[in-house]
Amino acid sequence: MTDSVKLLSSQQTQAFDTEYVDDMMFELVKQALAKFQISQSPFRLLDVGGGNGKYADKLLYHYPNASAVVVEPEKTLAEKNLPNRRKQVIQSPFQNIALPSGLNAVQFNWVLHHFVTSGYRDTCALQQRALHDAYRSLAPGGIIMIFENFYEGALSEDLPSQLIFHLTSSQILAPLTEKLGANTAGVGVCFHSARFWREQLAQAGFSQIEEHPCYDFGTLSSIKRVALTLRKQRVGLLVARKPLSTVS
Ligand SMILES: C[S@@+](CC[C@H](N)C(=O)[O-])C[C@H]1O[C@@H](n2cnc3c(N)ncnc32)[C@H](O)[C@@H]1O
Repeated sequence: MTDSVKLLSSQQTQAFDTEYVDDMMFELVKQALAKFQISQSPFRLLDVGGGNGKYADKLLYHYPNASAVVVEPEKTLAEKNLPNRRKQVIQSPFQNIALPSGLNAVQFNWVLHHFVTSGYRDTCALQQRALHDAYRSLAPGGIIMIFENFYEGALSEDLPSQLIFHLTSSQILAPLTEKLGANTAGVGVCFHSARFWREQLAQAGFSQIEEHPCYDFGTLSSIKRVALTLRKQRVGLLVARKPLSTVS
C-alpha cells in the first residue's frame, strides 16, 4: 500500500475557515463527554484537522479543566488559531505526527473523508489506520468522536462513496469535476455511510459505538444524485470508547 496522504491546496482549503459545530451538535459532544466520564476530571483532547481552532477554543471555554492539541496541515488555517495556554497547535498532517499517548478524547470533525491516497482500497486502509492510531493514542476508557457527512447508496450502501472518490481523485477529470462544483477535484474525497464507519471503529478495537443523527442535507442536484446512486446524505456524530481493560 502507498502511504502518501494527498493534501488539498491552500486555495482548496479556504472554504474550511469556518466552524461547523453548532450549539445542538456541541450539546451532543457535551453529553458524550459526561456519559463516558471524560469531563468530570482534567482531560486532554486531540482535534485532528482542527483548522482555525474555533472548535478547540469552544471546548476549552466550556471546560476549564480541558487541554487540547490541534493538528492541522494547512499553514494558513493553523496560523488562524488564537493563542491559548491550554492549546497546542501542530502544523502537520495527522499521518506525520508523533502519536501522543494517554489522551482522553480524539476528535475527527469532517476530516476523515480527506484522508485520501492513490486508489480506493488504499484510501480506505489509510482511514482505517487513522482510527487505529486514535485508538492507540487514547488512554483506556477514552473516547473517539467523529462528525461526518454520511453518504448512503440506493443500490449498494458504499457505491456513491466509491464513485465520488474515483471522480474527484482523477487528475484527467479534474477540470470537469471542478466545474461541477467539487472543491476536492484532482485530489479526491472519500465519504462513507455511517454503517461503514461503525464497522471500521469496531475493527480498530472500539466498543460502545453510538450514532447520533444531526440533520439531513441535499447539496447535489437530482441528476447528480441519480448518477451517483445516492439515497441519502446526512450529518451525524459517531462516538465510541476504548475499553477500560484491553487484552494485549
Ligand atoms: C472540512 S475541514 C474541517 C475543519 C474543522 N475540523 C471543522 O470542523 O471546522 C477539514 C480539515 O482537515 C484538514 N486536513 C486535511 N487533511 C488532513 C490530514 N491528513 N491531517 C490532518 N488534517 C487534515 C484540512 O486542512 C481542513 O482544515
